[in-house]
Amino acid sequence: MATTSPRPAWQAQDLTQDLDLSVDELNSVLDLTHKVKRTPERYVKALNGRYLSLLFEKPSLRTRLTFELAIKQLGGDSVTCVGPIAEREPVKDVARNIERWTQGIVARTLRQETIDELAQWSTVPVINALSDLYHPCQALADIFTLKEKFGKLAGLKLAFVGDGNNVAHSLMLDAARLGMHFWLATPLGYEARPEIVAEGRRLAAENGGTLHFTNEAAEAVTGAHAVYTDVWASMGQENELPDRCRIFQPYQINSGLFAKARSEAVFMHCLPARRGQETTDEIMEHPNSVVYDQAENRLHTQKALLLMLLG
Ligand code: CP
Ligand code: NVA
Repeated sequence: MATTSPRPAWQAQDLTQDLDLSVDELNSVLDLTHKVKRTPERYVKALNGRYLSLLFEKPSLRTRLTFELAIKQLGGDSVTCVGPIAEREPVKDVARNIERWTQGIVARTLRQETIDELAQWSTVPVINALSDLYHPCQALADIFTLKEKFGKLAGLKLAFVGDGNNVAHSLMLDAARLGMHFWLATPLGYEARPEIVAEGRRLAAENGGTLHFTNEAAEAVTGAHAVYTDVWASMGQENELPDRCRIFQPYQINSGLFAKARSEAVFMHCLPARRGQETTDEIMEHPNSVVYDQAENRLHTQKALLLMLLG
């Protein structure tokens, strides 16, 4: 969002990536989510007459529907456009059209640069609904889910097993800043981006969290409070799936691997899941699986985020 009038308690203009929210703002979203989830009736007119533009370059079930529902449940509404964002005109022109019609832009893009460019040219808030590098709205819901389940975040061991992808990046950045112990287990060659890891390490050190990287799934999962995985091939990487299925096999979350976590450990997945690949039916249906709580919380956290950014 290209503007200069920061509100004293809330400075963030956009959520182009996780670090757009300070630690205080992150905690504010979590606190407000708790209230919105407990007393939704208090917020039914909070964004009366406000509209969102949803732009999707890739498919979505959860993100699209929860943003559409979130703005409606706050008294506003949304319009959705599916397809390439900058095929017919430059991103800067797209941004300067949309800001004339709606009070916010939610975009799922092939490249992070498209979200950054939308934010650079738009005077209304821009929210990242997943890019190749980040999935900050997912991480907000995941962190909220962990806080609900354990009553705290600092000191928890969160093990992400699989691809060092967009979801891993966002979780790592939020966990590091909230005093958690984040472990990432990936095959060789599928690690998180070094520049994002460097930033995560710096933030972890500042906030009492720790980051650990390994190629051994069992090392990451042992003693974990939460075990998280995501698809082995993200949207756009489907042609790599046969190779990835072979390479990632030792990283499948199955009952043998999950048994190494704490007895109260939760199983997490952003969904959609490919049962039989990164996880099994048994683990998806495990009594400690919180995957549908995470999906539900996408709605509540995004309502809080919209209240903060558009309110
Ligand atoms: N987890 C998530 O973002 O799901 P969708 O791709 O269905 O939006
Ligand atoms: N890493 C996955 C997440 C889907 C919600 C992807 O980018 O396709």
